[in-house]
Amino acid sequence: MSEIDPRELRNAFGAFMTGVTVVTCLGPDGEPLGFTANSFTSVSLDPPLLLVCLAKSSYSKAEYTSAKGFAVNILAEDQQSISNTFARPVEDRYADIEWFTGPHGAPVFNGVTAWFDCSTHEMVDAGDHILMIGKVEAFDTSDHAPLGYARGGYFSQKLSEQAIEAATAETLRVGALVKNGNALLVIEDEDGLHVPSIPVKRKHGSDSNIDRVAKSLNLTLNRDFVYSVYEDSKAQHLIYRCETDDEEPAEGRFIPIRDIDASGFKDPAEQIMVRRFLSESRLGDFGVYFGDVEQGSVKRFTRDNQLETSFF
Ligand SMILES: Cc1cc2nc3c(=O)[nH]c(=O)nc-3n(C[C@H](O)[C@H](O)[C@H](O)COP(=O)(O)O)c2cc1C
Repeated sequence: MSEIDPRELRNAFGAFMTGVTVVTCLGPDGEPLGFTANSFTSVSLDPPLLLVCLAKSSYSKAEYTSAKGFAVNILAEDQQSISNTFARPVEDRYADIEWFTGPHGAPVFNGVTAWFDCSTHEMVDAGDHILMIGKVEAFDTSDHAPLGYARGGYFSQKLSEQAIEAATAETLRVGALVKNGNALLVIEDEDGLHVPSIPVKRKHGSDSNIDRVAKSLNLTLNRDFVYSVYEDSKAQHLIYRCETDDEEPAEGRFIPIRDIDASGFKDPAEQIMVRRFLSESRLGDFGVYFGDVEQGSVKRFTRDNQLETSFF
């Protein structure tokens, strides 16, 4: 049997699309605690059980494992900053959070897609993590669309669809952040670095958009999701995140992600987007998070095509 490479395994685990949750409990002095987790899964309906994996490196491991219970808050698509706050060593993670005490006593956030307030059923030792198995004592759901997470990046299915809907025909450019392993496809000319993109004349669905970009690059692309939508003086830009196994693009070259300097991108919007991509790539995935998540530049479209403030 071949050796398991932890890095490759981490990438493989990270390819799986998940939601994003914040797991909360009260500490011994009643102080609210919480950490971001995408390892949440339902376990059983009768009895009602769920689980989430807690890294043994967690600063508050003792508090989570000895609390009488914990809550799982499923974050909504506009709560990415909450996810970032609860994944970082922030002094007071609750400073900007609106929350209340759940029926079983753990902190529940306002505006989430769903929450589950649990009693501790069992804590199971599992490698470098602890399986926190909770018995659901109370829960609620809302119609807020959930925040998604895959390959180290956040996404919102609903926003992606809205962005494509909102894009106007004349001014649309479709591009792609194309990853091959740990390298990113970059176009280089006398002005500096660019993300590959092409103008499209009409509005198309995601698959058709990506097919066109793939054709222009002569690559087979697997689309992950819409990564960024923004507008500048020239066009609306719709940028997808994609993967490929092909190594020889018709244009540009693959550069190892660790060697990319975002300031080499001359277009300011591309620079912000690539900076976000680089910082998310450095975050790694489940269980081995570190570093800082930077706010990116994805703009959100309202129904009447007005751009709202930065979403991601
Ligand atoms: C999207 C995302 C998902 C995460 N999932 C988990 C997880 O399932 N389990 C875990 O222990 N840490 C996970 N982390 C990392 C923790 O949130 C992070 O290490 C946090 O700082 C832990 O806080 P603590 O040390 O105060 O417990 C995740 C981070 C992010 C950004």
